Amino acid sequence: MRPARALIDLQALRHNYQLAREVSGVRALAVIKADAYGHGAVRCAQALESEADGFAVACIEEALELRAAGIRAPVLLLEGFFEASELALIVEHDFWCVVHSLWQLEAIEQAAVAKPLTVWLKLDSGMHRVGLHPKDYQAAYQRLQASGKVEKIVLMSHFARADELDCPRSSEQVAVFEAARQGLGAEISLRNSPAVLGWPSVPSDWVRPGIMLYGSTPFEENNSVAERLQPVMTLESKVICVRELPAGEPVGYGAKFITDKPMRIGVVAMGYADGYPRHAPTGTPVLVDGQRSRLLGRVSMDMLCVDLTDVPQAGLGSTVELWGKNILASEVALAADTIPYQLFCNLRRVPLVYCED
Ligand SMILES: Cc1ncc(COP(=O)(O)O)c(C=O)c1O
Repeated sequence: MRPARALIDLQALRHNYQLAREVSGVRALAVIKADAYGHGAVRCAQALESEADGFAVACIEEALELRAAGIRAPVLLLEGFFEASELALIVEHDFWCVVHSLWQLEAIEQAAVAKPLTVWLKLDSGMHRVGLHPKDYQAAYQRLQASGKVEKIVLMSHFARADELDCPRSSEQVAVFEAARQGLGAEISLRNSPAVLGWPSVPSDWVRPGIMLYGSTPFEENNSVAERLQPVMTLESKVICVRELPAGEPVGYGAKFITDKPMRIGVVAMGYADGYPRHAPTGTPVLVDGQRSRLLGRVSMDMLCVDLTDVPQAGLGSTVELWGKNILASEVALAADTIPYQLFCNLRRVPLVYCED
């Protein structure tokens, strides 16, 4: 069997969830949209269900997958519904629902719902993606209250730049949120992972950690709380071929790397069809047989090359960690000019192997 696989450490996932709870001191919705950022939503939800206050997903398809797997905890639809016809299923399965646009509010007013809904009313406090305009927020709240279709409303917004700890934008967003919610005595939710880790004074009754659950820091610079996170996914494979090359020989497609001395090259069963970024450059860190080394040349669809020159003990069959407990996904992301979120979400073809401890 092809040796490429992603080990998923469910104990680390629980540790990271508990850390989110501990540092925020409030209830936490585990954000497991996009198949738990590539980690497998059902298995992650099952691993967290006994302690999680609830889960958040992008859409009803993802939420239904959780219910079909027997997850009974609250599940919030972060984008709400895309068509009013979803409301019947939302009620039937007790999903919580974001309302981010006036058309969704109108749809709720007009719907015949069998049971009152829990709505998370989203304010656009400055990100300008989805969310109600501050001038419409109070009226939307009152209309939901008056509709008779809603039993609970949580007030929410989302940060655009919480990963930039020196940037005033998050504080400005909080100020917009505070002004918009004045006088509304409802629970609130503002904080995603960077805000849980880096903005402790932002008020919240609920936090919504995503990337930190998977053990990855949202910051480029060091953060003492983020250092306590445990990577959940280890993407690994093995050396399937070894080449001894003299100086001046090209390696891989496009001859993007030329040996500058006699070198040992390992070919690893991992490529961009597995989700490893094709644009990761020579020098991107890898771990071979427990020792740090580097990627060489262009990543191909199913294989990539690594430097074994200074890893004499490594050879055919050596284990290579592409990211995980030793090579942080954030390091690879930085080298490849992307973010850990995208590395995780892009994973495909590779079997996920779950470990409890
Ligand atoms: C509304 C909302 N809340 C929370 C999150 C989780 O964000 P993060 O993964 O940065 O913690 C997301 C993710 O995009 C989101 O869209």
